[in-house]
Amino acid sequence: MEPQIVEMRSLPDGNAGGTWSAALEAGKVLYFPSLAFEPLTQEFMLFTPGIRDPKSRNISLDANDKLKGATGEPDTVLALAAMMARFRQQADGLLATLFPAYAGKLKRGPVSFRPAQVENRVQSWRADDRRLHIDAFPSRPNRGERLLRVFSNVNPEGVPRVWRVGQPFEQVAERFLPRLPRYSPMKAKALQLLRVTKSLRSEYDHLMLQLHDAMKSDPDYQENAPQQRIDFPAGSTWVCVSDQTSHAAMSGQYLLELTVQLAPSEQVDVESSPLAILSRMTGKMLV
Ligand code: SIN
Ligand code: FE
Repeated sequence: MEPQIVEMRSLPDGNAGGTWSAALEAGKVLYFPSLAFEPLTQEFMLFTPGIRDPKSRNISLDANDKLKGATGEPDTVLALAAMMARFRQQADGLLATLFPAYAGKLKRGPVSFRPAQVENRVQSWRADDRRLHIDAFPSRPNRGERLLRVFSNVNPEGVPRVWRVGQPFEQVAERFLPRLPRYSPMKAKALQLLRVTKSLRSEYDHLMLQLHDAMKSDPDYQENAPQQRIDFPAGSTWVCVSDQTSHAAMSGQYLLELTVQLAPSEQVDVESSPLAILSRMTGKMLV
């Protein structure tokens, strides 16, 4: 397998940034080994798993800067929101430098802070992100919108975040598409009426969700699919479109992550999106 990780020794200067969208849109991980998000001294008190409300999977600062999923004294919660807002600013700046072609087209999304130790989490196979997968969400159909994500390992003790990165999207789809259950417009309508989904699940959303599940539930695929392991050191940053890049988080603790969305029609190469790839492979519109 051709390498899926592109190591970036420095930030692109000036118009050199224009070329990185091609690597991103091909599903590569753009990895900055020494681009760190630096917490302030007084913020290190926030680095404890207990800051997460056990009822929530993650702590998030939503698009309106509302903090969710954290517990603690008002001061602590305020300091956490401020750190996450600062991360948003820096991650947005990185995206602007890397992808000038997306200027004005990125839709603001949430920041998450992940203080839990990845390797100890007990969860169902479907929620287990230690299995290779592409991101797709059961309740939030997105009709092909891209999930562009910036990750920074902010572990204060130098613990790396270990990922596996799998095959290009087209190859994943080639393997699984023929065996996925068919889309039922009636079932999609029912799920919407029952408010299982926040809007109508399109055929695209159905396929992405089935792909996510098919990958995670196949032990042979998990073990034998072409993949590479990468240890992202503390103080590093990486960027990918997580609806396209096969990934699995194996271990680590303390991560900051920003998600922004991009319409597939706003890509530099519109033919490279999962929506375009799946449409070609099925010969259908899908949204
Ligand atoms: C994921 O998006 O699957 C998990 C990423 C991480 O927590 O490192
Ligand atoms: Fe994921």
